[in-house]
Amino acid sequence: MTASNNQFSNTRVLVAQIPEGVAPNKSHFRTVTVTEDKPELEDGAIFVKNSVLSLDPYIKYDFSSGNEESPVAGFGLGKIVDSKNPAFPVGSTFFGPVRWESYSHLTKEQGLGESINLDAGLDKDLPLSVYNGVLGLSGFTVWDSLKRLGNLKKGETIYISSAAGTLGLLAGQLAKRQGLRVIGSAGSDEKVAYLTSELGFDAAFNYKTQDRRSALTEAAPQGLDIYYDLVFDDTVDIALDLLNPHGRIISVGTLALHQGQEPAAPKNLINVLMKQLRYEGYMVYEYFDQWESFWKEVTPLVKSGEIKFAETVIEGELDIVAETYGRFLQGGYKGKVSVKIADL
Ligand SMILES: NC(=O)c1ccc[n+]([C@@H]2O[C@H](COP(=O)([O-])OP(=O)(O)OC[C@H]3O[C@@H](n4cnc5c(N)ncnc54)[C@H](OP(=O)(O)O)[C@@H]3O)[C@@H](O)[C@H]2O)c1
Repeated sequence: MTASNNQFSNTRVLVAQIPEGVAPNKSHFRTVTVTEDKPELEDGAIFVKNSVLSLDPYIKYDFSSGNEESPVAGFGLGKIVDSKNPAFPVGSTFFGPVRWESYSHLTKEQGLGESINLDAGLDKDLPLSVYNGVLGLSGFTVWDSLKRLGNLKKGETIYISSAAGTLGLLAGQLAKRQGLRVIGSAGSDEKVAYLTSELGFDAAFNYKTQDRRSALTEAAPQGLDIYYDLVFDDTVDIALDLLNPHGRIISVGTLALHQGQEPAAPKNLINVLMKQLRYEGYMVYEYFDQWESFWKEVTPLVKSGEIKFAETVIEGELDIVAETYGRFLQGGYKGKVSVKIADL
């Protein structure tokens, strides 16, 4: 913190212009640096020095429906520098909904229920950025949703859409470890090859160049038992037809909606009744009491390399985040993308 004792300098990325019908790029953002009074914290509030910001596709929808000059909101990691919240004491490492700014003042109404004190899981031998991805909210979502809703059984077949994404690649590897036949789809031949040659998927296909129904039918000669849906588009119609009796659809992501596509509206839901399927949604925020079990099980697998992950960390001043976000939305980086703006 700079300036006088009660003042500090805060750099912020604001929305300069709402993107209309185009993907956001650098020109839609504006970076400002202001000197502010250190906030008087009310009960339950925290003050965080942001260190690593997580780039996620949904962010563009949040700001495109917001106001110009509003700070961009996302998730990130940082250090608590002041606190009136016993769950987040000063000095602890925080993950939660921060804005694209050097310091964030968060009240208990501003999503602290979606926040985690990482100290219980932090492994100093791993880069902090993994807590934005494979050992963070993404990884926890996969691990918990598969356990809670998957009822995974050895010999079954699971299909994962967006399998080379942050959640997808972990879902495939965890299912494989439990003896399932794992099928994934991704949007380039390079990603498809990565799934089968490096991550151990049994089969994979390019959903952009191959007919999804024939590719899936060929890859799953015994039918599907689980569809792990990260996309929420009409792929679910195909899955409903190919699922075996007592199959499950675990609905977790909405990537197609982030791309402006129509949401799933399957016309063959009768399969749910006829084949006694379960079609269930999962939202991670209800299950935060399971974090320590997740870290206990998955951290050693990540450290030993048994679970692989891909990430890109861009380091720089805060204004780099705007440019990086535009490239991220165009698929310019591999794996989970984070921007490191400061040391912890
Ligand atoms: N329910 C929960 O509690 C929860 C928690 C965390 C995340 N999520 C959601 O889970 C989803 C996946 O998150 P993530 O972090 O894994 O995403 P991600 O790593 O950012 O994945 C991005 C990839 O998704 C693929 N993709 C984009 N649009 C697609 C489409 N229309 N059809 C198929 N693939 C598409 C693209 O890869 P290709 O090149 O393969 O197309 C893109 O590179 C998101 O919707 C996220 O919001 C849900």
